[in-house]
Amino acid sequence: MFFGGFSGATAFYPSRIANGSFVPRTVLTDFRLSGNRVPIGGKSPLKQSISYTDTITLTHQQNIFSIEFSALSYFNAETNRYRYRLDGLDNSWHEVGSDQRTANYTTLPARTYIFEVQSATSRGKWSEPGTRLRIEILPAWYQTFWFRCACAVVLLVLLWWIYQRRLKQLERQFNMQLEARVGERTRIARELHDTLLQSFHGLLFRFQAARNMLPGRPEESSQALDGAISRAEEAIAEGRNAIQDLRPEPTAQTDLAQLLASTGKELEGAQYSNQEENRDSAIFRVTVEGERQALSPILQDEVYRIAREVLRNTFQHACAREIEAEIRYDYGQLRVRIRDDGRGIDPRVLQEGNRAGHWGLPGIRERAKQIGARLDFWSEAGAGTEVQLTVPGSVAYAKSRDAGGLRLFSKKTGTHAR
Ligand SMILES: Nc1ncnc2c1ncn2[C@@H]1O[C@H](COP(=O)(O)OP(=O)(O)OP(=O)(O)O)[C@@H](O)[C@H]1O
Ligand SMILES: [Mg+2]
Repeated sequence: MFFGGFSGATAFYPSRIANGSFVPRTVLTDFRLSGNRVPIGGKSPLKQSISYTDTITLTHQQNIFSIEFSALSYFNAETNRYRYRLDGLDNSWHEVGSDQRTANYTTLPARTYIFEVQSATSRGKWSEPGTRLRIEILPAWYQTFWFRCACAVVLLVLLWWIYQRRLKQLERQFNMQLEARVGERTRIARELHDTLLQSFHGLLFRFQAARNMLPGRPEESSQALDGAISRAEEAIAEGRNAIQDLRPEPTAQTDLAQLLASTGKELEGAQYSNQEENRDSAIFRVTVEGERQALSPILQDEVYRIAREVLRNTFQHACAREIEAEIRYDYGQLRVRIRDDGRGIDPRVLQEGNRAGHWGLPGIRERAKQIGARLDFWSEAGAGTEVQLTVPGSVAYAKSRDAGGLRLFSKKTGTHAR
């Protein structure tokens, strides 16, 4: 192309145009934290001007920053081009014009980054490798390796502790099973005492009475033998129940007072037959105080068994003239008291606990403990014995007294049963 002018002619060959070979140097011109200028020196992360800084270390709270850069090319500076990236965050370059010479970063996670920026003239090459700034963002204390290690150790210790606890729990369960087995054996021994042994004692009384009557009163003797035979049948049934542990609440249907009255009658009869020579048998009575409450069946059975053993002891050992069983239904407790005016229990026997061949007292103590009841003895030589069983109402009574307020006004009743 040729152009003519006053000063001469101009020739222009487009094919001979060459790209500019000038590659400008890029410098960092500003560094800001959360939009604020950063002073140099002191506690500031900048120890010298950002233009001369290769590495900068920031805390985890200083992770919002911006970097400004510029190309050292003053020939038509508006047409200069820039590209930057943050190695560790960006995968590609961000290309911008000269009006956007700032790179902004917010809430970067703690780690080390490399900021790279390159510049070029409008048609020139990129200033490779460009300018680089190493930026290290320190982790918070809870993000540190040591803290994580400590957490892992604590977790392991916790798991170990849980494992040990579980082991101990299993051990305890195993021990409890063992104890339960031993307890079961004791219970069976007690059951045998309270059923078979006691029944055979009763039978012995009856047989002895029948034998005493045999020479003079054969009729009464055979009646006594018939009674003993039917009692033996009952004893077998009772023993079978105890051994098989299949007693489906045998005493539940009957009132406790009635049970004690018939037991007393039975013992009284046996005693009467044995002592026919002096005819000095004990007078037995049952009294009930307070409004009768339905007892929980299992508990009634346990209370009955305790009272029965106490009565049996009284008839067997006390040589008493009067024996009284008192059942008292109080608001918060059930109280069964059995007293006699006999010879009293030897204090050594009461203190001794277990005595070979005498399992009645240890047995009733165990029973009372099992049902959460209290068993008290008062005894004096020649003045008689009083045994009191106190069972908390929450354990004794089948239903809680929800109409308690009204029952405060209920009358106390006294009844006698013989
Ligand atoms: N009410 C009582 N009056 C006088 N002595 C008693 C009375 N109750 C118990 N004893 C004495 O306490 C002892 C212990 O009684 P316990 O019931 O433990 O055994 P046992 O009646 O002799 O035998 P078991 O009950 O094993 O058949 C009795 O042997 C008796 O001497
Ligand atoms: Mg006894």
